[in-house]
Amino acid sequence: MPEKKTFYITTPIYYPSANLHIGHALTTVMADTMARYKRIKGYDVWFLTGSDEHGQKIERTARGQNIEPKAYVDNIVASFKKLWSRLNISFDDFIRTTDERHKKVVQYIFKKIYENGDIYKSEYEGWYCTPCETFFTERQLNAGNCPDCGRSVELIKEESYFFKMSKYQDQLLEYIEKNPDFIQPVSRRNEMVNFIKQGLEDLCVSRTTFDWGIPVPINEKHVIYVWFDALTNYISALGYGTENDELYQKYWPADIHLVGKDIVRFHTVIWPTILMAAGLPLPKKVYGHGWLLLESGKMSKSKGNVVDPNVLIDKYGVDAIRYFLLREIPAGSDGYYSEEALIQRCNTDLANDFGNLVSRTVAMVDKYFGGIIPEGNVSGEFDDDLKSLAAKVPVEAENFIENMDFANGLASIWKLINRANKYIDETMPWILAKEEKEKGRLGTVLYNLLETIRISTILLIPAMPLLPAKVSEQIGFDFSNSKWDDAKAWGLIKPGSKVSKKEAIFPRIDPKILEFKPEVKTVEQVNVSEMEPIKEEITIDDFAKLDLRVVEVIHCEKVEKADKLLKLEVKLGDEIRTIVSGIAKYYEPQDLVGKKVVLVANLKPAKLRGIMSQGMILAASTKDDLEVLTINKNLPIGSKVK
Ligand code: ME8
Ligand code: MG
Repeated sequence: MPEKKTFYITTPIYYPSANLHIGHALTTVMADTMARYKRIKGYDVWFLTGSDEHGQKIERTARGQNIEPKAYVDNIVASFKKLWSRLNISFDDFIRTTDERHKKVVQYIFKKIYENGDIYKSEYEGWYCTPCETFFTERQLNAGNCPDCGRSVELIKEESYFFKMSKYQDQLLEYIEKNPDFIQPVSRRNEMVNFIKQGLEDLCVSRTTFDWGIPVPINEKHVIYVWFDALTNYISALGYGTENDELYQKYWPADIHLVGKDIVRFHTVIWPTILMAAGLPLPKKVYGHGWLLLESGKMSKSKGNVVDPNVLIDKYGVDAIRYFLLREIPAGSDGYYSEEALIQRCNTDLANDFGNLVSRTVAMVDKYFGGIIPEGNVSGEFDDDLKSLAAKVPVEAENFIENMDFANGLASIWKLINRANKYIDETMPWILAKEEKEKGRLGTVLYNLLETIRISTILLIPAMPLLPAKVSEQIGFDFSNSKWDDAKAWGLIKPGSKVSKKEAIFPRIDPKILEFKPEVKTVEQVNVSEMEPIKEEITIDDFAKLDLRVVEVIHCEKVEKADKLLKLEVKLGDEIRTIVSGIAKYYEPQDLVGKKVVLVANLKPAKLRGIMSQGMILAASTKDDLEVLTINKNLPIGSKVK
């Protein structure tokens, strides 16, 4: 048997400087959809994601929270993995830049380039943007700020190693010209060509003023610049430069590095020139997708307007979130997120168009044929039209997906779904059902509908991995070994097999859900005029009367018939105390379990709704929001708070 063609796709390795938001989910869901599509096209796929854990930004964030950087990143990286598992991301490997396997390779490449003479020691003097981990010259700044993110930059002056990037300018331009697919979409390619033509400077590739990084192998006073470290993940994860490099041999060069447009420059200038200096082949394609924007601008942690994908998954389900991200963001350009638009997609495309097509069809097979799938051998008007679209759409969708255009790919699939809905209106099975002589025609209409559902479902496997099993439960067709090209065949459903009615695949969402919880929380200052006045002065002795302790929440539940109250059980030494707290509007009970919170431990017990509350827990609040104070470091239960 001939060997399968390989396909290697990567996502950026995200910074664990904060939790991931739906912008990160967008990239990873796109990459996952592509990986799943290629798998059912018959490719041998390798899909890599990971985390970018070194550098000044992470070090400062961790120290700011009084945590060792490694402990800090371990915690956040665990939440990355959890999110990807919830979103059904089918990665083959997760690389952490703190992995030994990665560090060795980065040092190996650094040394190799140094020995080739393309890395030299000098002094760097210039500007640095820590959030972007990028060096800038005075001339590149925008009104004194970072030209990329607009934040303030720092002047740094230190001994550094430099990479002779300038040397590769012409070679890089030539490569881009000869490989029109290398930078996609085209608009980004033009941008990059203009950027490179302005002249490449040598790149500073080491730092000495902090040490959270991989040591420079020839001089341990330096750590390797975080982007040099990070970009190398794409080959370190394949075992490049080690004895065990089969994956590298098999999958490199990558077919697609999928990234957001913010980091196209790093991937199309720094990364290829590093590879050139190391004598290695360049990736086939860097695809820079657009940004997911909010009405209030780009999502960013510093603006405090991030949308947590976990919350959306809880409310709307994984496949719906995946569908929305893929459908709503046009290929290559920016797109907007709003919860209203998400609900609209759930209700129109998923519940109405697709969900109803399945439930109406299954209900009719049930009603008219006792659930047994009929033969489809009495053709009639409208059949050719439906079948010819069913033959066209898989090819059309495939062309869009190959170009990372998931929005149009899905729109194409929906043309078929909606054609099938129209076919029901045209053929009017309920009229056919009235006449015994039309039984054969009625059966054919239903068979054709089932086939259209089967074909659409196969085309949706990459985007919505949970969907096939749900459709399978209803129409009885097993999708577990389906290949993409099965969507190009007509007639794979076996007459005589059974359908069974189940609950709606995509339940309708009541838009009132929006009134319960604002999704996008903007961090705001308390309006000064609304701020409560400061109370009268107390002495340190007054304060010392309070006994505040760290306790752990071990159980939490709603208080019946009191919608504001939660009942918590907290552990303090050997004691378990019951606390009643008016925070039910802001927390689900399970959100608090396992958290360490602060208890006023010597407050006189009081009865609330018939429950004796033995103290109170501290929380910060405004008139419409509240956060319970939590302790994030590993301090023992019972620790004093003062
Ligand atoms: O840049 N819309 O990590 P990062 C769309 N560690 N995509 C978005 C987005 C938004 N609003 N916000 C983030 C880094 N992304 C480096 C990468 S790779 C060798 C090193 C996605 O955590 C998008 O893919 O800042 C963007 O490029 C990436 O997250 C940036 O993630
Ligand atoms: Mg970023």
